[in-house]
Amino acid sequence: MRALTFANYTDPRGLSWRELPMPVPGPGQVLVRVGAASVNPVDWHIYRGDPWVLRLKTRSKAGEPRGVGEDFAGIITEIGPGVSEYRVGERVFGTIPAAVQVAGAIADFVVAQPQWIARLPHSVPDQDGAAVALAGLTALQALRDAGAMRPGHRVLVWGGSGGVGHLAVQIAHLMGAGAVEAVCSSRNVDMMEELGADAVFDYTRGETPIGPYDLVIDTVCTASARTLRSMLRPGGTVVTIGALSGGRLLGPGGPIIRRALGAKVRGFKAKTIMTRVNHADLATLAEWMATGKLGVRIERDFPLAAAQDAYAVLEQGKVRGKLALVARVPKTGG
Ligand SMILES: NC(=O)c1ccc[n+]([C@@H]2O[C@H](COP(=O)([O-])OP(=O)(O)OC[C@H]3O[C@@H](n4cnc5c(N)ncnc54)[C@H](OP(=O)(O)O)[C@@H]3O)[C@@H](O)[C@H]2O)c1
Repeated sequence: MRALTFANYTDPRGLSWRELPMPVPGPGQVLVRVGAASVNPVDWHIYRGDPWVLRLKTRSKAGEPRGVGEDFAGIITEIGPGVSEYRVGERVFGTIPAAVQVAGAIADFVVAQPQWIARLPHSVPDQDGAAVALAGLTALQALRDAGAMRPGHRVLVWGGSGGVGHLAVQIAHLMGAGAVEAVCSSRNVDMMEELGADAVFDYTRGETPIGPYDLVIDTVCTASARTLRSMLRPGGTVVTIGALSGGRLLGPGGPIIRRALGAKVRGFKAKTIMTRVNHADLATLAEWMATGKLGVRIERDFPLAAAQDAYAVLEQGKVRGKLALVARVPKTGG
């Protein structure tokens, strides 16, 4: 089977398709034929080895190719010993946890554990399942777990138009937020309103949210601790999911640590998140999509074989919603 790989840290042009042995699901694993995949910023952090601190976790044996990508959707083609919850032929979607990802999801086939997948409802296309997986888990866990969101809370999503942000706006409403507001650039204001944002602040026009907020979900980490303090209610929380800038050594970790220190000085709660891949939360996302309560916006589909082009676009940091990769499903029969 073919898989997108890299042998040395590289930019998207250095990613290459290789013929690899067909993977065999071991005990407690299933094999999925990939119908669609999607791209996430963590993927390029891994293949670029940027920031350097990440290389401690992602170092591969010299010259040994690593796979690329976490999110996938497709059909189960083989079941390993001891798996009783799935059958061959079922459609599933999911994501490979970044901490254990060596073989990637941008491939003809992916081996997965049942905890990393959930059934994909008939009405949901493969690309929507793939596109929602990591971003949806992150948005849900940022609101529910790190942010301890309660019905009636006033929530701000900073970076509202990206993969995580546009799902967080919708999920906050699904969880009963009293109001959901968003920060984005001019070209995305309409999309935020369509997704149900009660107020939108265009940072390219110098608009700053006022609040007071119970919870700020932040994917970009551009606001100072002082600014955040001024817009939070007493007891309010900021959950920082990612950061735009950061040095070569710590990357997004640098601004996130600085914010945590600033929050201590200014007296508000600052949390961060490491997304936990789990079946129950994926199943919740699937149910919301099947009932039309949650919709993933896909700015553009690429052929799976053109994943390098999708990464070149993703790395510019301006994607509206998500980018999806669609496999050409081989024809069967006559
Ligand atoms: N901690 C975790 O476990 C975890 C999990 C998933 C993701 N993350 C991190 O979370 C971050 C967001 O991920 P993502 O998938 O949502 O990324 P993404 O889809 O690439 O985000 C792109 C979006 O960022 C917005 N943006 C860019 N500059 C902005 C600014 N100055 N102010 C406000 N918005 C801005 C863009 O909107 P405009 O064009 O409107 O500016 C665009 O819609 C990344 O750093 C990622 O690594 C962390």
